[in-house]
Amino acid sequence: MLDLTGRNALITGSARGIGRAAALLLAQHGAGIIVNDLKETPEGAQTVAQIEAMGGRAVFIAADVADSASAARLCEEALDRMGHVDILVNNAGIARQNTMANISEEDWDAVIDVNLKGVFNTCKRFVPPMQERGWGRVINLSSIAGRRGSMFGDVHYSSAKAGVIGFTKCLAKICGPQGVTVNAVAPGIVKTQILSEEHEQASQAFIPLGRTASPEEIASVILFFASDMSSYVTGTVLDVNGGSYM
Ligand SMILES: NC(=O)c1ccc[n+]([C@@H]2O[C@H](COP(=O)([O-])OP(=O)(O)OC[C@H]3O[C@@H](n4cnc5c(N)ncnc54)[C@H](O)[C@@H]3O)[C@@H](O)[C@H]2O)c1
Repeated sequence: MLDLTGRNALITGSARGIGRAAALLLAQHGAGIIVNDLKETPEGAQTVAQIEAMGGRAVFIAADVADSASAARLCEEALDRMGHVDILVNNAGIARQNTMANISEEDWDAVIDVNLKGVFNTCKRFVPPMQERGWGRVINLSSIAGRRGSMFGDVHYSSAKAGVIGFTKCLAKICGPQGVTVNAVAPGIVKTQILSEEHEQASQAFIPLGRTASPEEIASVILFFASDMSSYVTGTVLDVNGGSYM
């Protein structure tokens, strides 16, 4: 039931981090992968090369999910090169860590635009064809910050990630009747470049499992939501945080 042969998956922001781990895992289970990131970089090329080295299919498409026109081009090119996209993983995200008094309007807009508007921009284009085909999976990356509020005062990031949860539930209601499930994953502290050393250290005392997650431990939950293993699960948020929010 974890077999994704014949499915294609777009994973936004998958040149590195959780997105890359998800791209590799979904490819291992048979999915064709569209690797997306802001620009063509050696990291993006490496993700594609790793999938091809495993015998998988992958293409790289550069696009900024925060920009509506760029997301539209991403959709056109993805459908053109892969034929159909059955699984959409909205993983692209940024964090501009700061406390409220010091968050500039520019940073507020950037964090909301990538983390929340980016989800709208891709879903708007990729979900209708899934509804027409009668099968689809949307997996949105929220965060523990969207569940309980960031411990570090970043109200913009917490708002965006809480917004992703509301978006997920509303879209799940809209497209459930056409066989498209929509779920969110809310990671705690994961060892990637988005995480500062300071935040990682400060979080450890609050994690019952006593350690930071690996990107692969988030990817395995994404695989569950992408597959037929989760066929009756929609509109949910799965907390993957070592017990630090329960
Ligand atoms: N690492 C953590 O502790 C943690 C915790 C909770 C949630 N998350 C979420 O998980 C997701 C993945 O983060 P990560 O930890 O792998 O971070 P990361 O910084 O390693 O990866 C994020 C990727 O998104 C790309 N990206 C940024 N803006 C983009 C845009 N506008 N369009 C396309 N791509 C863009 C980046 O270039 C990068 O490759 C994010 O949504 C993040 O908020 C991470």
